[in-house]
Amino acid sequence: MCGIIGIVGKQPVAERLIESLKRLEYRGYDSAGIAGVVGQGRVERRRAQGKIKALEAVVAEQPLVATTGIGHTRWATHGAPNLKNAHPHTAGRVTLVHNGIIENFAELKAELLAAGRTFESDTDTEVIAQLIDAELATGLAPLTAFKATLDRLTGAYALAVLIEGDDNLILGARRGSPLVVGEGEGEMFLGSDALAVGPFTNRVIYLEEGDYVALTHQGHEIHDASGARVQRAVRVVPASAVMLEKGNYRHFMEKEIHDQPDGCQRTISAYVDALSSTAAVPGDIDFAALERIQIVACGTSFIAGVVGKYLIEQLADLPVDVEIASEFRYRQPALRPGALVIAMSQSGETADTLAALRYCKSKGMKSAVVVNAQESTMAREVDVVWPIHCGPEIGVASTKAFTAQVSVMIALAVAAAKQRGKIDDAEEQRLVKVLLEAPRLIAEAIGLEDAIKDIAADVAKARDVLYLGRGPMSALALEGALKLKEISYIHAEGYAAGELKHGPIALVDDKTPIVILAPYDSWFEKSASNMSEVMARGGQVIFVTDTEGVKHAPAGAKVVVTAPASDPLVSTLVMSAPIQLLAYHVAVVKGADVDQPRNLAKSVTVE
Ligand code: M6R
Repeated sequence: MCGIIGIVGKQPVAERLIESLKRLEYRGYDSAGIAGVVGQGRVERRRAQGKIKALEAVVAEQPLVATTGIGHTRWATHGAPNLKNAHPHTAGRVTLVHNGIIENFAELKAELLAAGRTFESDTDTEVIAQLIDAELATGLAPLTAFKATLDRLTGAYALAVLIEGDDNLILGARRGSPLVVGEGEGEMFLGSDALAVGPFTNRVIYLEEGDYVALTHQGHEIHDASGARVQRAVRVVPASAVMLEKGNYRHFMEKEIHDQPDGCQRTISAYVDALSSTAAVPGDIDFAALERIQIVACGTSFIAGVVGKYLIEQLADLPVDVEIASEFRYRQPALRPGALVIAMSQSGETADTLAALRYCKSKGMKSAVVVNAQESTMAREVDVVWPIHCGPEIGVASTKAFTAQVSVMIALAVAAAKQRGKIDDAEEQRLVKVLLEAPRLIAEAIGLEDAIKDIAADVAKARDVLYLGRGPMSALALEGALKLKEISYIHAEGYAAGELKHGPIALVDDKTPIVILAPYDSWFEKSASNMSEVMARGGQVIFVTDTEGVKHAPAGAKVVVTAPASDPLVSTLVMSAPIQLLAYHVAVVKGADVDQPRNLAKSVTVE
């Protein structure tokens, strides 16, 4: 996804646009650009390939003197990540930035080419600029020309548009990609999320699907998809500026790993009643009446869903299916109204997860989302919102959102078990107390950082790394492998340890680190056997266990990492920190760009 900012302001805009783009860089960093109205209605652009730093250098050489402008940081979809495809794109009087994908761009481009228009980029975005300019050329007013263009677009967009000749105007629109309006004192803002406008205002309007807007110094005029003028609620968002600072940490990912005890604490507090030690899950879901749960998600959120499946099925005897949203949405799954769909998503905007959620809703299923961005599209479309309270996550590699999602899953499992009569009051109280203890144990596990740093130098030399685990640890094995590959670019695979003999054991040699995740639980003996099998073939085992497991582990592991002992209910929370820290320190040793790994974006709002 890309980041967008627009300012109809009173002060010089270039620095402010760049300040905002720096906050948005986590969304994409293939190229960046700004444009401003430089006088007599003339618009100029400054663009650079690569990160915002490169754009800053361009602006330092060629200052952009304006008070109204737009900015963009790009995650490439159509067209290579080079200068000519960097936003803003200009056609005639129109200069604009875009997040999303225009699906019918080829057909529109052919039409515009046939009409004699020429293109300077390979993007789908330029088609929008050309269309608006063509409509303006027929004599339409800017807002009318804009609406006429929007009506021709198929696909997803959030847009911010400058029109040459209109110094005091930015047009914006959203469909399929979020966009917010920020209200300032005599100035107005447009942003792809509340973080974008955060440096300037905390008064925010979340535009609805299909809305379009005209911003001027004086205010805003919002229309819905039908063209009717509408009022949307203004929300005051909590000042999150502090949470966006790295503090003393080198990277956001490192900070976010360390944020986890607090993030889980806040999340757990919202799902249990600590005084009575009972589960207190918000929303009116009757777990006793539910026939099954369908979880849809992508990436790390999918893995949190798998942990949820283990716990809910085991504790509540309630069937749970978990599926990768991009597969689910296209395979016409057999669904029944008696089931609950739970979308899991940090951003609440992931295109595949949103589509899968909508598909389930169209089949009459009740819906819920476990989400960090509470104003996201998913949060606005479901029957029940189950927020995680870990604060904004900026590192592309998800860490604190994962453990907060798992915390919610644990609370749901306990609540469902109680409602379905699978546990009594005493067991509910025991489990809730265990959950409330988890943040302290997570903090202890984070204390293993120095020991993990020592292992990282060796792992950084590996070409492949294998992660193994059983039960919920098989999900964590997937997460460990995903974390390592996305930020250190080392090939890694996560497997249910029982699958070892069915293929992956062929990979075992003395150069491949094998991370075995084995707290002392009912699967421990089996995992320990797998460890012996690996070692018998020369495998270099990094055995991640707990203070109980270490007493029973077979000798011979190259390294043993000893996390605090925990109840199986929360062991995925406790064992997360070591695998996150391992990935993090390996990436640091390799000098990789931890917070902005190549080719990735924080939230994938396109298919
Ligand atoms: O915002 P979402 O939770 O829906 O995002 C899902 C995935 O894109 C995300 O978890 C991704 O896999 C992360 N980079 C993992 O660290």
